[in-house]
Amino acid sequence: MLVGPAIIMKLVVAVIVIASIVASSDSPVQVHVALGSNPGTITFTWNTRYTTPTTYVRIASGSSWLYYQGTFRSFKDSSNSWIIHSVTVQLNPDTRYQYQVGCQVNGFSSSLSLLVPSDQAPANFLLFGDLSTAQDGADSWTDMNDNAKDYLIQAMIHVGDLAYDLSSKSSTVGDDFMATIQPTAHYVPYMICAGNHEASDNYYNYLQRFDMPNNKFYYTFTIGYVRFLAIHTEAFLSETDMLPTMMSYIKSVLNRNDEDKAAYPWLIVFGHRPMYCSSKAKADACGPEADVLKQYLEPLFTIYGVDLYINGHVHNYQRTAPVYQGIVTSGSAYGDVYMYPKSPIYITTGGPGSDDTNSKIDWTDAPDWLIAGEEDFTFSILNVYNQTHLYWEQQKTKNNKITDAFWVVK
Ligand SMILES: *[C@@H]1O[C@H](CO)[C@@H](O)[C@H](O)[C@H]1NC(C)=O
Repeated sequence: MLVGPAIIMKLVVAVIVIASIVASSDSPVQVHVALGSNPGTITFTWNTRYTTPTTYVRIASGSSWLYYQGTFRSFKDSSNSWIIHSVTVQLNPDTRYQYQVGCQVNGFSSSLSLLVPSDQAPANFLLFGDLSTAQDGADSWTDMNDNAKDYLIQAMIHVGDLAYDLSSKSSTVGDDFMATIQPTAHYVPYMICAGNHEASDNYYNYLQRFDMPNNKFYYTFTIGYVRFLAIHTEAFLSETDMLPTMMSYIKSVLNRNDEDKAAYPWLIVFGHRPMYCSSKAKADACGPEADVLKQYLEPLFTIYGVDLYINGHVHNYQRTAPVYQGIVTSGSAYGDVYMYPKSPIYITTGGPGSDDTNSKIDWTDAPDWLIAGEEDFTFSILNVYNQTHLYWEQQKTKNNKITDAFWVVK
């Protein structure tokens, strides 16, 4: 049989259509950005279903593009597999960029925009732990996305327990979570530490899907006037092999030189588990487990002038006075303005919506150092105005009400 030109044309058209469907159905998804250890270092991370000939971020520069090459790794959980691409680029702080991620052969994503966080300038942050994409968590996401637009948020800090769990249902819960964070996390750096819910398969989802600095478990970075230190609190309780090297890392970051202190006068540590909290339901977490963390960290935090320690794990909001070994240390500690605190303030922000209702705070037996708390769904907004003034707000999900606020002045 003779195959006529019309049929060949139809075949060619069909092949082209199928090729373009395959290409477009494998365009980059789950795009998110994170900070590196130095100001202006940004890592772009995204997924495709299949390997691509190249992995690139291109950044608009006038009317052309600057190309930055990266690497890829494969991700596999039963029938669910991805190629995860990652590119690290040095950019200028406090500068807005247009970028696309993808591949010269298979195509790039649509144009996305990113504001690289400022260095030694005012900066705002969203902070929270223990967040799922189920209903209450989804409402927090809606509110936080609005805040990110309105307040020019420089980074989101998720202090462990992501998605409940990233690994659930062949890691498709992780896919839903990554798709939920993309609308914000493609332009606001998303910084995380690992909670107990990340532990399955040796933190496989946590380590594969995200690009945090250093070894991804404990690391440091700066934004505005703040030096942040992320710690891996599971190491104090069950993964003690990691403890000696982590402790020497923590000491080296806390023991900063004078130049670092001058540039970044605020020192904020975050980790998943609490050091100070009050809860009947989480009596162990706030009791003997918190005591283990205190034993290792509290003297160091106090000697080296940590301003805030921020954690999740307990599903509500709690704020302490400046406290050391259970004793409130500063005269102005009982109000909403802390003047020249002599020890860290401990904040639990684990109540934006997890896999469960929030826990009750134990007010009947409340210690002196517990100043404020909220059991409704909330998340935190931190404004670091300058070298001397920091302002914290705890916002309720769904109604934008501020349920607690305080200043630290030094
Ligand atoms: C720091 O910010 C606070 C709050 O906006 C302001 O009252 C204070 O004057 C500022 N200090 C300096 C030195 O700019």
